Amino acid sequence: MPHFSSAVNIGDLRECAKRRLPRAIFDFFDGGAEDEIALRDNRAAYERVRLAPRVLRDVSKIDMSCEILGGPSRLPLVIAPTGGIGIAWPGADVAIARAAAAYGVPYTLSTTATATIEAVAEANGAGRRWFQLYILYDRAFTDKLVERAWAAGYEALVVTVDLPVGGKRERDSYNRFVQPFRPRAWQILEAFTKPDWALRILANGGLPTLENLRGFDNKKSDTLVSISSAVGQNLDSAFDYTGLKRLRDLWKGKLLVKGVARADDAERIVQLGADGIWISNHGGRQLDAARATLDSLPEIAAAVGAKVPVLLDGGVRRGSDMIKARALGAQAVCAGRPTLYGASAGGEAGALRALAILADELHRNMQLCGTPTIADIDRGLIAG
Ligand SMILES: Cc1cc2nc3c(=O)[nH]c(=O)nc-3n(C[C@H](O)[C@H](O)[C@H](O)COP(=O)(O)O)c2cc1C
Repeated sequence: MPHFSSAVNIGDLRECAKRRLPRAIFDFFDGGAEDEIALRDNRAAYERVRLAPRVLRDVSKIDMSCEILGGPSRLPLVIAPTGGIGIAWPGADVAIARAAAAYGVPYTLSTTATATIEAVAEANGAGRRWFQLYILYDRAFTDKLVERAWAAGYEALVVTVDLPVGGKRERDSYNRFVQPFRPRAWQILEAFTKPDWALRILANGGLPTLENLRGFDNKKSDTLVSISSAVGQNLDSAFDYTGLKRLRDLWKGKLLVKGVARADDAERIVQLGADGIWISNHGGRQLDAARATLDSLPEIAAAVGAKVPVLLDGGVRRGSDMIKARALGAQAVCAGRPTLYGASAGGEAGALRALAILADELHRNMQLCGTPTIADIDRGLIAG
């Protein structure tokens, strides 16, 4: 297994992360809900789509830049929000935010990040940043997060709607990666076999906390529940279209809704004033029976794609996935685990490695497809 700096693909970075992290943490990042069918099918959907490349086009110069949600991006890629990640690498949120700014792609900070909204804004500097919002049962606390995000220069609010309750993530249950975490003897012993991880966490003063939830009255009971259920327990599962309308009126910036899986919901959300639709099944971590996100894309793009940008995430691991998603109607893809594996393996440098791999693959695949610009990628590239 190579060092992360010589990882050839995202799969290598995943292996580097796996080798460096305690199993419970790696599984928390890597796993999905129940039988992990949605997790696998997100990936398999990209593998099912084949391209019919164009030849005899001048591909001596490739321009991968494009517009995403009305602003520039160096790649048709956005960093998806991932919560709790400082548990793998101290300052992982800041590391990924910096990598995104350096690379010129939009970055999304999670509500359950291990760094504050303000610290990440500072690290991201002139980069494009969006804030992902979970609707906590305490609406006043939730509104305060929205105000803070606006004050710190986040241009878009990404409201996640596919987590009215935490998914049943069975790897977490088997690993007893539960709330409150009471490690078993083997898990304490295992830490000695992961010295780089253990020393960095110790040097940082121990495991991080969810910085933006400081002062939040956590309802979680004393019973052992998985981390996802603990998050779910503190969410407002009554949040509906009325609540979304209220948020639309409150937030002055761009509003995206993340976790959409059907055209009728997408239409209703757009009518309500959203600026974009983010198709997602939470990386297979919520409804395991959910269809692959790439399979939801054509009908959602047909329904609302002419009015607002459609983004999607789940299973993006190759540069060619960006081409497939664009060809099927997405303005851009979003990636969660790729930069998370990178940051887990090597902090900011690891996250940069993930972006460099995806960019290199996209560049090569655009040449191979005969599409020198992102605008050249269209439905006609899809075989069959
Ligand atoms: C460890 C982890 C934590 C996540 N935390 C959040 C979160 O806090 N908010 C959110 O909206 N989505 C969260 N997600 C879902 C991602 O934003 C995204 O939908 C998913 O990772 C995309 O799939 P991919 O990992 O295959 O790219 C998380 C995903 C992972 C793997």
